[in-house]
Amino acid sequence: MRAEFQKPRGTQDILPPMSLKMEQMRRIALDCAQTFGYLPVETPVFEQTPVFLRVGESTDIVQHERYSFTDAGGVELTLRPEGTAAIARAYVENGMFNQPQPVRMCYYGPMFRRERPQALRYRQHTQFGAELYGSVYPEADAEVILLACAVVERAGLPDPMIRLNSIGCSECRPRYREALIRYYHEQRNHLCRDCQTRLNSNPLRLLDCKIDVAIREQAPDIEEFWCEDCATHYGKLTDLLSASGRQVRRDPFLVRGLDYYTRTVFEIGHPSMGSQAALFGGGRYDGLATTLDGPESTPAVGFGMGIERILSAVEQNLGIPSVTRIYVAHLPGFEGPSLLLAEQLRREGFAAESDLMGRSLKAQLRDAGRRSQIVVFVGGHEWEMDEVNVKSLQDGVQMTVKRDQLSDLLHQQFKINS
Ligand code: HAM
Repeated sequence: MRAEFQKPRGTQDILPPMSLKMEQMRRIALDCAQTFGYLPVETPVFEQTPVFLRVGESTDIVQHERYSFTDAGGVELTLRPEGTAAIARAYVENGMFNQPQPVRMCYYGPMFRRERPQALRYRQHTQFGAELYGSVYPEADAEVILLACAVVERAGLPDPMIRLNSIGCSECRPRYREALIRYYHEQRNHLCRDCQTRLNSNPLRLLDCKIDVAIREQAPDIEEFWCEDCATHYGKLTDLLSASGRQVRRDPFLVRGLDYYTRTVFEIGHPSMGSQAALFGGGRYDGLATTLDGPESTPAVGFGMGIERILSAVEQNLGIPSVTRIYVAHLPGFEGPSLLLAEQLRREGFAAESDLMGRSLKAQLRDAGRRSQIVVFVGGHEWEMDEVNVKSLQDGVQMTVKRDQLSDLLHQQFKINS
């Protein structure tokens, strides 16, 4: 196939059986969210570009990973690189701040980032996320983290280790920022190129540089700069998570790549890739909705979870739901009746298919053996008598039954649930 017809770099076709596992993962996530009271919200996969600029001008997803375009009407649009800004826009635009708070929302869908493709880093990935609006309390942070852990655990990854930090608030972070800039300025000549450019625009990001790891060891720790409220918030949150039986570890280098966070940030790593590839990440972002013309004070906290990454970690634990399939085989000339009988069975709730390839009866049976457990034969002498022959491919049991009693026989003798 010519290169121009192939899928774009960094994207994937998700085929069965992976597509079925993915669907199962979606159900686990949304069901789990519902037990916590988080109801699904769907926003467009593109927004007006200024919505995503609010994520932060100095973040990678805004600076150079955006899929932005101008439509025929001259409107600047961007494929969503993440869900939080879109949900914040929806919260404000739909006046959800007038509802009783907190408002608990979740979402599931594709995100687009023009990243350098590598293992578990795609240009289109699927995120399940949850956002809680309206509460300033550490109990809210705890609840969203507990939800994220519950989803991961329900998917088959027991005991996730939560890495947690607080990046302070507008009162204490500027003092820390200054101290950090001072420290890194002294090390300027030893920094990688990215860090040298980030030094003034976004110095906290220097802490999560994968190259300059030795330098950060001596960097000032934000814990020493937390104001009283930030310290209390962090302390209560870790106590709550520990008391709920979750494993928590403070990571002083965890700062996250998005600019909107205030106080709490958290992540859990992929079991085989550590912090290089987070399974989920999130935090508190009390100021974002206000920058999108929301009310002055709009506290919020949430997380996003990479479904492809979760699947790569737990794929072997996710079974594909087994369905007993019925194959309606036919003698030559009975293609139509065979299709109609399969349709009748499907209307009664069974999983049924018929041959569409003009196969001989022998070839149909070979085909049936690949994915069906029961064969119903259409044609011949029985058909004239309004009967069909039914055979179990598992134990060879065979029976003849009146057509109008086929459904009862499948239920009672062959124990198939429709
Ligand atoms: P994020 O850390 O950029 O946060 O992404 C969330 C998760 O999406 C990551 O932990 C990872 O599992 C997955 N992910 C991100 N980029 C890729 C990629 N290129 N390929 C595969 N998986 C990826 C956010 O997006 C925030 N909106 C999370 C949040 C919600 N914060 C507060 N509320």
